[in-house]
Amino acid sequence: MGKVHDQILPRRANNSNLADYGQAVAYFKWEDVERQFTWYETGKVNMAYEAVDRHVNEGRGGKTALLYSDSVREESYSFADLKEKSNRFGNVLRKYGIGKGDRVFLFMPRQPALYFSLLGILKIGAVAGPLFEAFMETAVKDRLEDSGAVALVTTPELLHRVKREELPELRYIFLVGGDSDPDRGLISYDLESASASVELEPEWLGLEDGLIMHYTSGSTGKPKGVYHVQRAMVQHYYTGRVVLDLRDDDIYWCTADPGWVTGTSYGIFAPWLNGVTNVVRGGRFSPRDWYSTIERNRVTVWYSAPTAFRMLMGAGNESLKGFDLSSLRHVLSVGEPLNPEVIRWGDNVLGQRIHDTWWMTETGGQLICNYPGMDIKLGSMGQPLPGITAAILDDQGNELPPYSMGNLAIKTPWPSMMDRIWNNPSKYEEYFRIPGWYISGDSAYMDDEGYFWFLGRVDDCINSSGEMIGPFEVESKLIEHPAVAEAGVIGIPDAVRGEIVKAFISLREGYLPSDALKDEIAAFVKSGLSAHAAPREIEFKDKLPKTRSGKIMRRVLKAWELHQPAGDLSTIED
Ligand code: PRX
Repeated sequence: MGKVHDQILPRRANNSNLADYGQAVAYFKWEDVERQFTWYETGKVNMAYEAVDRHVNEGRGGKTALLYSDSVREESYSFADLKEKSNRFGNVLRKYGIGKGDRVFLFMPRQPALYFSLLGILKIGAVAGPLFEAFMETAVKDRLEDSGAVALVTTPELLHRVKREELPELRYIFLVGGDSDPDRGLISYDLESASASVELEPEWLGLEDGLIMHYTSGSTGKPKGVYHVQRAMVQHYYTGRVVLDLRDDDIYWCTADPGWVTGTSYGIFAPWLNGVTNVVRGGRFSPRDWYSTIERNRVTVWYSAPTAFRMLMGAGNESLKGFDLSSLRHVLSVGEPLNPEVIRWGDNVLGQRIHDTWWMTETGGQLICNYPGMDIKLGSMGQPLPGITAAILDDQGNELPPYSMGNLAIKTPWPSMMDRIWNNPSKYEEYFRIPGWYISGDSAYMDDEGYFWFLGRVDDCINSSGEMIGPFEVESKLIEHPAVAEAGVIGIPDAVRGEIVKAFISLREGYLPSDALKDEIAAFVKSGLSAHAAPREIEFKDKLPKTRSGKIMRRVLKAWELHQPAGDLSTIED
């Protein structure tokens, strides 16, 4: 280790120019990255082995891997501890007949057991499916049902949101902090792990065998199960080095929950593949809590998101008083456009330039980034990493010249590219409709120095606080409410969250518009789907604009909202 960084991307002085970058690209070979892995020699692949066991076998077992804290606990675990705990849970899963390729989901708050059990799932070759703890009944059921999960790891507090009677394939539920109840298929994670063996031979896999699933929202239909395979580790490891710039003595903190892809690719895999100490903070966001997490742990590399930075910014410099953030040496952002004013705030208040990174659940890892040594243009997502080719294409697949707006596309393949959309090959094909390219669904342009600039989503997806929300899913939930006849959902601009969800609703006969009804409808979505999907604004309308085929025209809703002309209305109903 260490070699690869120098080989494929020479560390450059600040303000170095693009000539170096060109050189790095010319020398770049994915094979040089692959050489860093045990499997390159042995032919045996397992993500959990590479991220954990390898460090123990190579004499780094005593190094701190996980620094966990919340308002009541503060715990630290070495790589040897992670190996032992994941081996124990891997053995528990095997005892219940769970193995290679089975989907095992996780539904619990950030806590050490989430990380142990996820690694245990990977050790035995099963595919992990982490769910965000704020998901409510319908969101949990949809994902477990679609994935055909055979087991779930959760807590007694969240168990009531799991509709077991509607999930025939779900055989076992492992309860963290709960008792076994064999008649109900409930198994105590703690008791069984405690009595399981600490020895385990990992399941040896191929590079194309399953790793992890994350559900992400599209503009139509239910959320899609984005399925990643073992080879993604090549990208996680590489970007951990060249984008996160991780070094041996770093203390790294990624604020994302493993329920989202950032919380696994960069909250688990990238730091641990690189053998770096990883901070996990449980509980809810507050500026003082976050600043003190940086101070107490002496965090050096910090990966977060624009909404979080904007909230810190909004809390004012008062909230910073008394905190020493001087340990920070590298700060990064992902998930939404990073406003120049936030970068300036970072310069002034954190004393660090915030580095934007662009990627998606489907891409599995970072692709277009601002990385150390590169000249940052405020407001640009940066440049494609060495090994990655990006372009702006028109709808026919022609490459467009600089400054033309079009589809942001990536040349296929790259190591962490999704392998499939679970149960939905036609959705998968849509991304690759132009031969040789992955079409991201983002529109962007490139400048004449090869920097990419984000413009928006091509589809109707809403990006609120970095979380992608599919309008269709919210509309489907809304019309389950007895008062709602029709609903159309769009994103509207918001200073802190980027966008928020707004619903236009027409009511059924016998219901009258009122603020109380708005609150009730919002609460209905919140308790059925999740808080982040619930509309923060609702407007009642007598009628919603529809196409002749009955599709609600979100484009017209958006024009109403922004007081803009509605454009071509030739397909509208009346
Ligand atoms: O629209 C882009 C936006 O987030 C989308 C991907 O969302 P998701 O799959 O939830 O993954 C988020 C974390 C990887 C993209 O299609 N997005 C992501 N990063 C940026 C961004 N928009 C602007 N700037 C970014 N850096």
